[in-house]
Amino acid sequence: MERGFWKQLVKPIIGLAPMDGVTDAAFRFMSAKYGHPHVVYTEFTAAEGIEAGALRLMRDFRYSELERPVVAQVFGYHPEAFYKAALVAAALGFDGVDINMGCPAKNIAEAGSGAALIRTPDLAKEIVREARRGLEDWGRGVEIADAGLHPAILEYVHTEWARLDGAPVRCVLPLTIKTRIGYDAVAVEEWIKHLLEVEPVAIAIHGRTLKQLYTGLANWDAIGRAVEIARGSGTMILGNGDVSSLAQARERVAQYGVDGVLIGRAAEGNPWVFADHTATREEKLQACIEHSRYFEKISPDQRFLNMRKHLAWYCSGFDGARELRIQLMTTQSADDVEKVIHAWNGKE
Ligand SMILES: Cc1cc2nc3c(=O)[nH]c(=O)nc-3n(C[C@H](O)[C@H](O)[C@H](O)COP(=O)(O)O)c2cc1C
Repeated sequence: MERGFWKQLVKPIIGLAPMDGVTDAAFRFMSAKYGHPHVVYTEFTAAEGIEAGALRLMRDFRYSELERPVVAQVFGYHPEAFYKAALVAAALGFDGVDINMGCPAKNIAEAGSGAALIRTPDLAKEIVREARRGLEDWGRGVEIADAGLHPAILEYVHTEWARLDGAPVRCVLPLTIKTRIGYDAVAVEEWIKHLLEVEPVAIAIHGRTLKQLYTGLANWDAIGRAVEIARGSGTMILGNGDVSSLAQARERVAQYGVDGVLIGRAAEGNPWVFADHTATREEKLQACIEHSRYFEKISPDQRFLNMRKHLAWYCSGFDGARELRIQLMTTQSADDVEKVIHAWNGKE
């Protein structure tokens, strides 16, 4: 089992959970700068899309050095696509690859991807093996031009290498899985045993079934059961679901014996959650500006609209937050954000 950076992390591991539409490179940069989570994951990226040469997906694979260790998360249903996606992630210098077996979204699950893989454990295991083959091929020095990648993706990787002054060091990256506790009922017992057969370094488990989506409470007893099943296997279990603070994460670790915790929604507008810091109003306003500027820099091809939800999340918990939030919802650029905030501050 290739452990890579995971073996250097001090437990309990506290990481930023992947969130599509939220944990893009700009958000992860802010989290890394102000919270220092031990590990961050990209938003999930379609393996079949990478296979088909969908260049726009390479946006999801942007990151900055500050984020390291940064794990590329991939979803899909076609094992061969995972071979290619894992190879591309390694060639782009990620620190690890994670396979999404937890997404409950209808279009994803109906295609047999995400949490639907809980119902097809043989396919899930085949996917892991193929992703690992991609990582091993990269590690042993395969020519990426001979790996059957789509020409557009191959060209993108070469352009990145030129920008970065060369290819990343060849090594076999660690492979992890993120999943749920079951499909329509808790199935930790059988499901985790299946996953352990393919020896992921870590399994992050969100304590809900696919059917639950995000309703009800995360079932941490089921996560605790997964810890027992995985004991002695060498695979770490990271618990996930409804953790709102570092103190609560530590409680979960103490109570359920998980090796770590991933925090998702509690980090929205709150990169400080990983540092156990309660941000002041000034820090939140400053973060609105810095996040917006960084977003524009790293994602010039993205609409500023994608930034607005982050601004809304930062703007809470202080007097006048609602009024400022409304004003920020009309901004079209980082300059706009700065102007609105300065004008609002001036009124105080
Ligand atoms: C908006 C949103 C997008 C998400 N996207 C992903 C994703 O791309 N990959 C993934 O594995 N989980 C995804 N999740 C699930 C989260 O990683 C996490 O498991 C879930 O939010 C529970 O953790 P929390 O209570 O700390 O938020 C997403 C969750 C949300 C709310």
